[in-house]
Amino acid sequence: MIQVPRGTQDILPEESYKWQYIEKKLHEIAKNYNYEEIRTPMFESTDLFVRAVGGSTDIVNKEMYTFKDKGDRSLTLRPEGTAPVVRSYIENKMQHNVEQPVKLFYLAPMFRYERKQKGRYRQFVQFGVEAIGVEDPLIDVEVLSMLMNIYQSFGLKNLKLVINSIGDIESRNEYNKALVEHFSPRIDEFCNDCQTRINTNPMRILDCKVDRDHELVKTAPRMYDYLNDESKAYFETVKAKLDELNINYEVDYNLVRGLDYYTHTAFELMSDAEGFGAITTLCGGGRYNGLLEMMDGPDKTGIGFALSIERLLLALEAEGIEIPKDKGIDLYICTMTDEARNAAGTLLHKLRSRNISADMDYENRKLKAQMKDADRKNAQYTIVLGENELDSRQADLKNMETGETVKLSFDDIINTLEEL
Ligand code: HAM
Repeated sequence: MIQVPRGTQDILPEESYKWQYIEKKLHEIAKNYNYEEIRTPMFESTDLFVRAVGGSTDIVNKEMYTFKDKGDRSLTLRPEGTAPVVRSYIENKMQHNVEQPVKLFYLAPMFRYERKQKGRYRQFVQFGVEAIGVEDPLIDVEVLSMLMNIYQSFGLKNLKLVINSIGDIESRNEYNKALVEHFSPRIDEFCNDCQTRINTNPMRILDCKVDRDHELVKTAPRMYDYLNDESKAYFETVKAKLDELNINYEVDYNLVRGLDYYTHTAFELMSDAEGFGAITTLCGGGRYNGLLEMMDGPDKTGIGFALSIERLLLALEAEGIEIPKDKGIDLYICTMTDEARNAAGTLLHKLRSRNISADMDYENRKLKAQMKDADRKNAQYTIVLGENELDSRQADLKNMETGETVKLSFDDIINTLEEL
């Protein structure tokens, strides 16, 4: 039997209403912050991710779904949304838009060849935002405010926001130099990946899952000490504004994130709910000041974050928060005879074209089973059609919540439901 590919899942109707609820809420919150939707292709040139995310990252080295198309082009299923959005900003010359920053959001599947684990999938849906075009701590804070607002709007409480500053490009280079000096003498005690990282991106050593307990990781120089005055001032302003908004956070000087494009503010939101599982990161993001120029774009900067719906759902589950069920259908038509089934089909056609949700039994079941079906479908009203009803073209419209019935003509049933 062919099964769903490893690390992917079917989202069945029993679950999909939760997704719809979350997606709707995310759209609403994006609107409140005035972010507009952007949709980019599911696959891009492989080079885009190699350049933007970084050739030394796990995402690029180990996790990309890369393939050649029939024209021998190397394409990659997008592992993340920032690089495609930045590509689109540059390609569509959005730097000339009157309003800057250009504030964009996406809600789309991403693909990473990762080891399957609770909260870790090979296809997952990210909601992400990118504000591109202006460098201002106020925007960093807007993005963080939105992020917290999203999680709190679902009622989540066990949240921990961790922030750090990677500094500007100059500070980052100074820091990298210090790390090379720190790790070089004993780099042979580290894993193979770290032995490469010391040459390609020393900061990644701090984030290594294999060597995270090595003494030298614990005694590594602190990024903060290598920030130049401007970078320090930027970080201090962001923190002060977060304080003003009463947004709680912790500073973690070792937070480096898994992608290479970050400068200045970098952050992750964790869940510390019991039972959430081993992977506690709900969301990650940060500022990327050099990225556009590095991709031959204009001298513009950006900041954003992304979260996955899969992990948001896990967090809701861990905190016992239920998502309200869909209200169900307006009307269920029970039928007693073949003629009634025919008439029900016609009536359904009219109801649905007037925007009333309605259904009937297609399995010729007994009345009792049809009533059960109406219940399962959470029908607000029911009618039963038999010979008498067809002759008189009237039926009892029953309110399933109160049990009340009113006799109405077929036309009036439609009118009444439409009004309701
Ligand atoms: P990221 O940290 O790689 O950042 O991913 C962001 C979020 O996507 C994670 O915090 C997690 O919720 C979710 N996620 C990542 N991998 C998986 C997976 N295998 N299964 C389920 N969920 C996953 C980025 O992608 C950046 N583009 C974020 C960003 C936007 N930075 C600036 N703007």
